[in-house]
Amino acid sequence: MESFSQQSELQEALKAARREGKTIAFVPTMGNLHEGHLSLMHQAKQHADICVASIFVNPLQFGPNEDFDAYPRTLQQDQEKLQSERVDFLYLPTIDDIYPRGMDKHTQVKAIDQLTNKLCGASRPNHFLGVTTIVNILFNIVQPDIAIFGKKDFQQLQVIKRMVDDLCMPIDIIGGKIVREKNGLAMSSRNGYLSDLEKDQASHLRATIIATQKQIEAGDRDYSSLIRDAQKHLKQDGFKVDYFEIVNRATLEPAKEQDRELLIAAAAWLGQPRLIDNQEVDI
Ligand code: PAJ
Repeated sequence: MESFSQQSELQEALKAARREGKTIAFVPTMGNLHEGHLSLMHQAKQHADICVASIFVNPLQFGPNEDFDAYPRTLQQDQEKLQSERVDFLYLPTIDDIYPRGMDKHTQVKAIDQLTNKLCGASRPNHFLGVTTIVNILFNIVQPDIAIFGKKDFQQLQVIKRMVDDLCMPIDIIGGKIVREKNGLAMSSRNGYLSDLEKDQASHLRATIIATQKQIEAGDRDYSSLIRDAQKHLKQDGFKVDYFEIVNRATLEPAKEQDRELLIAAAAWLGQPRLIDNQEVDI
């Protein structure tokens, strides 16, 4: 694996690969890599000749009271993991390489409000603006044929799919399935903030989502009351609920009775960390 911190060097290497007719898959990350990230790298290698990963903790997508400074940075271990996944190129830009004139003087790319102002976007204003801006910059540097994003951040995946479609970017966006701990907790770099006891408690988020899924699959269409029940359970289990919703998977609007492709999506704080999870439901 070759690592690059300068975009010009990465672009030279990619140009050479493209000249040889190689296809390029890209997996952007913020590092502190776990099996969830690595499953995306694995998928990348199945879809293309060259896998490019990036690690960049993007300040633009963090709110002023969020964990940008505390976000875990574990470069050495990350590099070893990527090496064993047979990642070809790793891009490790500095903030200056990405925002040379400063973050506040940088052109931004904004996705449609209908997708970004709900679910995570409601409690994290400007988060998706930061995500779509950095993903655009990275796409323009890497110019991949395909890019892979995890379904753990289902809203992010939908926002990026829509942006790529609206802006006619010639990139196939692929969704990777959620990788979980043994107890069902979705793997996340932020799980490191949890104690062992809290990790057990955190698995109740998944359990509540699954219980709701079973009720929907059994024919219950009273989504408002399913949501109320789930919120009540989560509160009893010690969570502070940000949202628990049953939505149309494509529009992310609250599900209507006739909708068939649903998503149960939830975000909740357990102490300091805010956990998110979701489950696709087909009826
Ligand atoms: P990060 O949180 O590091 O996640 C990088 C990618 O890994 C995302 O596509 C995310 O959905 C995926 N991922 C995280 N946990 C996963 C899990 N348990 N199973 C499967 N996939 C998982 O998402 C970001 O970084 C940033 O917003 C980024 C897209 C890099 C832009 O800065």
